[in-house]
Formats: sequence, C-alpha cells, structure tokens
Amino acid sequence: MLTTVEAINARCSTPRLAEPGPTGAELRSLFRAAAAAPDHGKCKPWRFVVVPPAYADDFGEVLEQAYVRRCALAGDDVDAERCARERTRLRRAPTFVVVVCQPRTDLKIPLHEQQAAVAAATQNLLLAATSMGYGSMWATGAAATDPTVREALQLGPKDTIVGFVYLGSLPTSRERRGPRRDTDVSAVVRTWAPAAKGRPDPAPATASKARSDRRMSGI
Ligand SMILES: Cc1cc2nc3c(=O)[nH]c(=O)nc-3n(C[C@H](O)[C@H](O)[C@H](O)COP(=O)(O)O)c2cc1C
Repeated sequence: MLTTVEAINARCSTPRLAEPGPTGAELRSLFRAAAAAPDHGKCKPWRFVVVPPAYADDFGEVLEQAYVRRCALAGDDVDAERCARERTRLRRAPTFVVVVCQPRTDLKIPLHEQQAAVAAATQNLLLAATSMGYGSMWATGAAATDPTVREALQLGPKDTIVGFVYLGSLPTSRERRGPRRDTDVSAVVRTWAPAAKGRPDPAPATASKARSDRRMSGI
C-alpha cells in the first residue's frame, strides 16, 4: 500500500488496464474513500454507477448509439471505426464506474461547489485505487453530456456525469507510460500582499525567474 504522497505522485492516466480489477471488498473501500471527500453542507452529491463486466458491451452499445445520434444531429458521416471503438470502449478495463453529481437542490450550497465535491471524490477514488496498486483513468468526452447516455443511466435533469472511471491492473512495464509531471511551481503560485504594502505582482508567467524564486522563498 502506497502512502498518500506516493499515490499522488504515482497516479497517471492508463488507457488500457488488465485483469483483475478491484474485488468487491476493495471497490467498497474505494467508494468509502471517495465519499470521504470534502463536502460543503454535507450534500453527499456523489453517486457511483458500476457497470458490471457482463453488461460492458450493452453500455458500449449505448455509447455507439449516442455517437451515431450525435452524427445525425450534426449532419456528419458515421465513422465505422469510431462505432467499433465506442462499442468496445468498456473492454479497456475490467472495472468501469460512472461518477455522477446528483446535487441537493433543497440546500443553499451552490451547484458548482457540489460538483467540486464530486470531482474531489473522483480523485479520492483514483488515489485510493493507486495506493492499492491498481491503474486508473478518468475520462469524459462527448458521451458525458449526451442525452442518450444520460437516459440509459437514468439520470435526473440536474444530475451531471463528472467522469467515466476505468480501473484495473497495470499493464506490463513495457506498455505502461508512467506519470509525466512538468509542474513549474513558480508559474502557478504567487504570494499575496495587501496593495498598500507592495506593488501588485506581475503575472507569474512574465515574472523573471529570480523574482519568482524570491517570491517562492517565503513559502
Ligand atoms: C474532468 C476530466 C476529464 C477528462 N477527460 C478525459 C478524456 O475524455 N479523455 C482522456 O484521454 N483523458 C481525459 N482526462 C484525463 C486527462 O487527460 C489526464 O489527467 C491528463 O492528460 C494528465 O495526465 P495524467 O492523468 O496521466 O496525469 C480527463 C481528466 C479530467 C480531470
């Protein structure tokens, strides 16, 4: 089991995952971890829809129908290869979970905060899976807002799909790409000071390296 920081640094999107996926007990533990996300107002807006392997191709057919319908609406040609990709999409991983935000509308917590809580829950799910040694992938795409997909999932009018999450065992190291991190911390962090006590900071992207190093030194 990885530590939290190890799991954060090890997590990366893995588009093809192998058998086995998490066991039933592991999945329950992953959903408990997901539901431990910060949640303003205790809305518990997350819902996790597991599509079992036995229905993977049925859900794939929904994705294909949705794609064909989008083409018809846009007046585009249907691409046979894309149809096949949609139909077999869930075969990319042994475990497939749709993460849904089902917001509370009777509470004062704004929708965007409830969606933020579900995004945090999704990341918890990925990190918990990583710490157990599983690979993961968070995807969305056009299917995430498609009415055909929404209907198949029996979503309510205010519900949104936050992610399609794929889980499974990591492929052999040759096929695995591993995390690629290139974060320039100085480009994304600045230190605030009251306007009266300092000149406004220039945009970090245009600040000189020396200046951004000075700013960072206070952290
Ligand atoms: C809300 C959300 C939606 C995403 N949708 C897709 C997607 O549709 N297709 C895809 O290939 N990756 C998708 N990703 C994964 C990102 O592309 C990926 O996290 C990013 O490239 C960084 O790579 P890493 O996850 O390996 O660190 C999504 C990520 C998030 C947070």
